[in-house]
Parts: sequence; C-alpha cells; structure tokens
Amino acid sequence: AKMASSTDPYEYLFKFLIIGSAGTGKSCLLHQFLERKFKADSSHTIGVEFGSKVIDVNGRTVKLQVMLRAVNDEHNLGHGRSGAVQVGDQILLPGRGRALLVYDVTSRDSYNALSNWLSDARSLASPNIAIVMIGNKRDLDADREVTLMEASQFAQQNCLLFLETSAKTGENVEDAFGHCARAILSKIESGEVDPERLGSGVQFTAGSFSGRSRSLGGGGGGGTGDHGGGPLDNCQC
Ligand code: GTP
Ligand code: MG
Repeated sequence: AKMASSTDPYEYLFKFLIIGSAGTGKSCLLHQFLERKFKADSSHTIGVEFGSKVIDVNGRTVKLQVMLRAVNDEHNLGHGRSGAVQVGDQILLPGRGRALLVYDVTSRDSYNALSNWLSDARSLASPNIAIVMIGNKRDLDADREVTLMEASQFAQQNCLLFLETSAKTGENVEDAFGHCARAILSKIESGEVDPERLGSGVQFTAGSFSGRSRSLGGGGGGGTGDHGGGPLDNCQC
C-alpha cells in the first residue's frame, strides 16, 4: 500500500498525539507509520512533527492525523497546558485527541516515567481517552530492561491497550495505530464517545455526518467481535 494523500475521502478523522520520554523512538514510529521505513538518522525533535494517513478500520475509512511535540523535560506534554498548536491554517488541540504513549524497552527510566505521562494525558483529555501504551525497540532484545510481562501488567492495571513495537523493523507499528483507531471507533459505535462533542478529538467528515451519527449509537452494540481481545476487554475502569 502506498501513502494516502490528504485529498483521499474518509469517513472519520482521528487525531493522535505521540507522547513519551525523549529518545524512545516517537519520531521513528511516526516515520515508520507514514513511510514504512526506518528513519535511521533521527535527531531530537524540535518543535512539532506531524503527518496523516488514511487507513481501513473495520471496513471504515479513517484518516489518522498524528502529531508529536518536542520533549523539553523528562515528562512534559509541551509548554502551555492549553497548548493549541497552529499547523498551517489549522488549530490542533493535541492534548484532546488520542495518544500513543511510548517507552523504550531498553530504558527503565522511560518506563518509570509512564505514570507521569499518563496522569498528564488523562488530566488533559476526556476520561474516555483511548491510549495505547507502546514498548518500542523490541528488536534490541539483548539490551532489554523491561519485560513484556511486567509492562502488560502495568497496562492492564491502567486500562491501556499495549503492544511492543520496533520502529526499526516495522513490527507492530501499523497495528499500534490500528488498535487505537479500533478502540476509538468501538467507543463511538457504542455511544461512549460522542464524536460531535467539542474536543473529543474525533470528527466526522461532512459526507458521513448526516444521518449516520445517530444510528451508530445503537447499532454498534452487538459488535464485540470487532474489539480485538485487548486488555480493555477485562477492564473495570
Ligand atoms: P525525541 O525527539 O528526543 O523526544 O526522541 P524520539 O522519541 O523522537 O526518538 P527518535 O525517534 O528520534 O529515536 C531515538 C533513537 O532511537 C534514534 O537513534 C533511533 O535510531 C533509535 N530508535 C528508534 N526506534 C528504534 C527501534 O525500534 N529500534 C532501534 N534499534 N532503534 C530505534
Ligand atoms: Mg523525536
């Protein structure tokens, strides 16, 4: 598949923010997702990086608009907590979208910082925020400092979807975004998230908006098979 252009038609627009400590591979994950290539020469992000891609999510056309911001401190969602960012003629409210929360499996520090990142993300977004926790650099197994087991327990306790990825080999990168998009979609279809609510981070396109949003509320109820069996299925939060 090739990269979708910004003019592709789509039914939903989901905005994602990639967060996590410096050096965990956020820029490489974004690049691998957009270009299916490893960005071998990635240097510390200054300012904002972003891109978008149209993917299929359970048969629906979803445009994912992904952005990440420079990490100034160990844990920091960006200066100015209201943090609207102007990109071209568009104002994005990154903290109110959905988040991929990244740590590096070879860095216990980056893993220990997750709870700080999490509380920031949840205080800035709705309680329904769909977060995927990502343990990146799983190709560096010899240098691993965080086991899959302990990380998945942490994820379960905190009601996060969880995946280990490699931005280098591309393993699970597409899935990480796809899981998050599916989680959002199922929340919309079950009526948990109202896509019309300001700041929900979800927008309909003009074409799909009329006549569809209401019928989705009841119609999605039976579709548990779409859920994918992630940790959220057992979560009581
Ligand atoms: P900041 O912009 O400083 O916040 O860092 P970042 O989170 O964007 O990290 P970046 O994507 O720049 O990657 C940091 C370093 O890790 C780079 O040297 C990458 O080459 C390397 N890297 C990123 N992802 C992977 C991966 O999956 N495997 C391996 N082996 N190296 C990776
Ligand atoms: Mg970066």
